[in-house]
Amino acid sequence: MTKVAWNTKELTVGQLAERSGVAVSALHFYEAKGLIKSRRTAGNQRRYTRDSLRRVAFIRLSQRIGIPLKTIKDALSQLPDERTPTREDWARLSAAWRGELDERIEQLLRLRDDLTDCIGCGCLSLESCPVANPHDQLGEEGPGARRLDTRLCVTQSVCVPAS
Ligand code: FES
Repeated sequence: MTKVAWNTKELTVGQLAERSGVAVSALHFYEAKGLIKSRRTAGNQRRYTRDSLRRVAFIRLSQRIGIPLKTIKDALSQLPDERTPTREDWARLSAAWRGELDERIEQLLRLRDDLTDCIGCGCLSLESCPVANPHDQLGEEGPGARRLDTRLCVTQSVCVPAS
């Protein structure tokens, strides 16, 4: 692996993958979804501006806390396309992003605090289930862990996303 020189202004997809730690296939996916952009060289190779590293880091961190790509894309669309985003640009995005993060934090706290109790998933396996979810009544409201907010699901291995 060759370290990408600090003063490299444009990166190949391989360099972007190497420095960001994100697979080339994932970068192509992000690009297809409009989250990052590249220009094409005369030889039809992709070139990414160096600030793409920050965008990719933002995408990855946001994904890790369960924020959908569409929401991430909407946030990134607030950054300018035609130039490297400045601190002020990121500050604007950050201000708009705060509500999203607050919701995630609240959900994580609920997950931390509620996971030892009945979450209304229909398993009826805990002592607390007969009281919290008698005869799986919560299942009549819809699928998923009804006592967790599935719209804000952050751990898809635990929660079933709302339909
Ligand atoms: S924990 Fe699954 S229904 Fe109570």
